[in-house]
Amino acid sequence: MRTIGFLGGGNMAGAIIGGLLRLDDAPVIHVVDHNPAKLERLAALGAKTHEAPGDWITACDLFVLAVKPQGMKDALGPVKAFLNPKGAALTIAAGIESAAYAEWLSGYPLIRSMPNTPAMVGEGVTGLWVPEGIAPEHAEAAEFVLSAVGRVVRVAKEGDIDLVGAIPGSGPAYVFRFMEALQAAAVRRGMPEADAKALALGTVKGAALLAEASGKPFSELREQVTSKGGTTARALAVMNARDIDAMMDEAVGAAIARTLEMKAMFR
Ligand SMILES: NC(=O)c1ccc[n+]([C@@H]2O[C@H](COP(=O)([O-])OP(=O)(O)OC[C@H]3O[C@@H](n4cnc5c(N)ncnc54)[C@H](OP(=O)(O)O)[C@@H]3O)[C@@H](O)[C@H]2O)c1
Repeated sequence: MRTIGFLGGGNMAGAIIGGLLRLDDAPVIHVVDHNPAKLERLAALGAKTHEAPGDWITACDLFVLAVKPQGMKDALGPVKAFLNPKGAALTIAAGIESAAYAEWLSGYPLIRSMPNTPAMVGEGVTGLWVPEGIAPEHAEAAEFVLSAVGRVVRVAKEGDIDLVGAIPGSGPAYVFRFMEALQAAAVRRGMPEADAKALALGTVKGAALLAEASGKPFSELREQVTSKGGTTARALAVMNARDIDAMMDEAVGAAIARTLEMKAMFR
C-alpha cells in the first residue's frame, strides 16, 4: 500500500485527500498543517494528521507540496531533512518553477502539476509534468494521486504547465463568468434570479455532459443546435460579431502573461 504525505491541508489538498480516501485501494495519508481546525476535518476523513514535520515524512513514497506559493520556500525548510531518500515530491503550487525547488530541496526528485477547483467534486482537470530522470513508480504515484479527483493530462514540457493554468486552472472562472452573463440576461427580461440561475447552470452542465457523451467536435455540436435562419443562429451572429475567439485568446494570453510575472518573483 502506498503512503502519501501532504504539506498543507487546505482547500486543494483537502479535495485530493478526500478523493484518495474514498478509493477502494486508498493509500495511507499523512498531512501536516499548522491549522488545527483543518487537521481535525482531515482526521475525520481518515488521514493521519501532524502539527509539525517529523519522522513520519520519511515513510511517504510521495510528498505532495500543497501550501500557497508565497509560503512554499519557508515551509520546505523544516521538511527537507525528513524526505524519503527513495521517494519524490509532487507540487501543486502555481508559478514556482522546478529550478527553484531544485535549489530549495537540493535536487530532490520533483514532479509539477496544476489541478483546478472542480477537483473538489471529483471532476478536476490536472496538468502533470514529469521531468526526465523521474523514476516511473514516482510518476505513477503522482498520476494515482491526482486522478483521485478527476482526469490527468500529461504535458511534454514544463512551460506547458502555464497553459494548463490559463485553461483548466483559471477556466472555471471563465465559465462562471459566462453563466453570470447568461443569468443576468434572463433576469433583465423579468425571470426570478433563482430560476435564471437554474437555467444557466443546467445549460452549461447539460452541454458539457452531451459533448462528453457524444465525443463530437464542439463545432459539430454547435451546428446541430443551429438551424439556418433560426433563433440560435441570430444569437451566435452577435457573439461572432463581437469576436468571441479573439476575446478568449486575449484572455488566455493575459492569464499566461500574469503567470510569467509571478514566476519571475520566485527566481
Ligand atoms: N485552489 C485552487 O484553485 C488551486 C488550483 C491549482 C493549484 N493550487 C495550488 O494549491 C496550493 C494550495 O492552495 P489552496 O487554495 O489549497 O491553499 P490553502 O487553502 O490556503 O491551503 C494551504 C494550507 O497550508 C497551510 N500552511 C501554510 N504554510 C504552512 C506550513 N509552513 N506548514 C504547515 N501548513 C502550512 C495553511 O495554513 P494557514 O491558512 O493557517 O496559513 C493552509 O491550511 C497553492 O500552491 C495553489 O497555488 C490551488
